[in-house]
Parts: sequence; structure tokens; C-alpha cells
Amino acid sequence: MVTYLKKLLLLTGTVLTCISVYCQDLNHYFKPGQIWPDTRGRHINAHGGGIIYYNNTYYWFGEYRLPRYDKDKSHYGVSCYSSKDLLNWKYEGLALKVIDDTASQLNPGCIIERPKVIYNNKTRKFVMWFHHELKGEGYKAALTGVALSDNITGPYKYIRSLRPNAGVWPVNFPEEYRNAKVKESDLKNGSEEWKRAVREGMFVRRDFAGGQMSRDMTLFVDKDGKAYHVHASEENMTLQFSELTDDYLDFTGRYIRVLPGDSNEAPAIFYARGRYFMFASGTTGWKPNAARLYSSKKFFGEWKLIGNPCRGTEDENKTTFNSQSTMILPIQGKKNAFIYMGDRWNPDNLADSRHIWLPVEWENGYPVIKWYPNWNMNNLK
Ligand code: DGJ
Repeated sequence: MVTYLKKLLLLTGTVLTCISVYCQDLNHYFKPGQIWPDTRGRHINAHGGGIIYYNNTYYWFGEYRLPRYDKDKSHYGVSCYSSKDLLNWKYEGLALKVIDDTASQLNPGCIIERPKVIYNNKTRKFVMWFHHELKGEGYKAALTGVALSDNITGPYKYIRSLRPNAGVWPVNFPEEYRNAKVKESDLKNGSEEWKRAVREGMFVRRDFAGGQMSRDMTLFVDKDGKAYHVHASEENMTLQFSELTDDYLDFTGRYIRVLPGDSNEAPAIFYARGRYFMFASGTTGWKPNAARLYSSKKFFGEWKLIGNPCRGTEDENKTTFNSQSTMILPIQGKKNAFIYMGDRWNPDNLADSRHIWLPVEWENGYPVIKWYPNWNMNNLK
């Protein structure tokens, strides 16, 4: 009898330990700003990223920044994670890797930022675009790179990097801007005349032949399946929205300038309640600044500033809860439910940058975000 009881106690103990270990290992809440362990227990290394939903699963692609324990530059690239519940993420490996060949523009030491993946229904392929800077050149090249895969998790085959829309004028670029003669060398950088010249397309003209600069970027697929490449252009002073070809692998040459001279980056676009919305940030490097919410009835339309979407303390609003937008994620099966995805950059150790995910709430028909240290899907009404 005593041995039987002992065995029973031992068994119960083991079961309880297993349950508690299992429960500890699962994430039950979003905890913005804290270490977010993947299913291996490692902080999710997918920064400036984006998520697509495919086959009942979310796939998160982001910058795989070299963690302190791994200094091998050839491990650098775009990571992929998968999840059913958005809380618990399995590492699927590097979907795009730098190419260990000095002849390739994607060689180790280049910069890959803000990767986004979309699925093309016609070609049945996954298309990745990312901000690409060349090794040793800082942020001068201002290219966008494209890669392709048959499988969502990769490997993605690098196709090329380019500056968009070489030799074509934006749709909303008046004749007088095309023919204006004013150049950078005529003006004092940052002066009122310089700002005016920027608004009136000085950099569009300068880069006309070689293609427009493309730094922070995102992709947006509209209701009709048309995809757009949205990028910070013109020395980060103006956003450009560019239509992609039907296979999503190139630019059609149809593009518009958005908010000329307003210095936006980190664009994140979504459609809800009959309008397009865009979260963006100002341009302060890795330091956070106040988010800007814009809206337009038409995608190629007049984008208007709504204001700061943050609803926190003055300091929180000034820094977007110490984060910078990367995507506004639509939640499957819930109408008008979105998650704000942002990055809290740690420039000294980019792999340790924290994820700031917050529920998008609605106030007078406009999206707003508030701080929640712990939250889950029940917060998404
Ligand atoms: C701000 C951008 O949003 C980031 O993606 C990164 O390019 C940093 N600037 C670099 O300073």
C-alpha cells in the first residue's frame, strides 16, 4: 500500500512538473518591449518585418540581425517564423541568405532591411522585396531588392536590386516641375528655398535617369490583387507609391509622390472601413519619434495627415511608445481588427531590438494605439 501511494505521488509530481514546464514555455500574452521567446526559447530575430497569412498559418519575415554569439556575416539575411496564434513562433530558418560571393551585390556585409513577402495568385509564387544597401556604402545606394520562392519559408532566390522607375515621371508630377532647372548645388541644404525645391521635385529630376531612391519600404496588396511598393524616396523627404507588374517582380512605371517634403519613413499601410490608412514615422535614424497617421479614400489619391495615433503620456506619444512602425497586421476572421507592429531599436545590438505589438483601437473612425504591458486577442474588439 505504501509503495503504491509512493508511486502515485511520484507520478502525480511528474505530471504536474510536465504541465508547469509546458505552460511556462508557451506565450499567453503579448508583452511589448520584453524578450519574446520563440519555441526554442530564443528572442525572435525578425526586425523591421512583416507577416503574411497563408494556409491557416501566419509567417513572419524580418531582418535577421547577427546575435552576439554569432559573428559570421554569412549567416545574415531574412528570417522566417511561423505561428497559428501569433504568440508562439517557430523558427523556420533563413528564408533569404546573403550570398558568399564578392561578385554578388547581396554579399555578406550588405544591409538588408524591412523585408516583406507577398503571395502572387497568378504565378503561385512568393515574392520578397527588401531595402538593400551595398557593402561599405552606408545608405547611399538606396536600392530595393527582390527575391522569389515556390515555398513560403524559402529558400528565396535573389533576383536583383534596383532603383525604381528609371526614366519615368510620377503620375502626379506637373509639367512645370519636369522642366524646372533648379538644382541642389544652387541652394543651401535645409533652407526654405531648398525645402520648396524638394517639394517641387528637385530630387525626382536628379534621379530621373538612374531611378528613384528607395529606402524604408513596405508592400501593399489592394483588393483587386494589384500590388504596390511603397518607399521613402528623394533623400527620405518624400514617399513614393509604385505599382508592381502582375507577377510582382518589377515596376510598371506608374507611381505617385506622396506627402512631398514631409520626411516620412517606416510606412505601414492598411485598408479598413472604406479608407486607406498609413502609419509612418519621422526620420531620426534609430531613435524613435512621434508616429503620424495619414488617410486617403483612394490609394493613388490625396493622403491627408490625421495626427498622432498614440494615446499615451506626452513622452509616450512623442516616441510612439519608444518604437517605430513596421506593419499594421490584419487579424484573420475578425473584422477591422489589426495589430500595430513596431520595433524598439537597439542600435548597439540590433538582434536584441524589442518588438512592440499593440492592439489597434478605433476612436471616431480612426485607428489609435494605447500601451498595454500584457495583452491578448481579447483586447481586439
Ligand atoms: C530608420 C529606418 O526606419 C530603419 O529601418 C533604419 O534604416 C534606420 N533608420 C537606420 O538608421
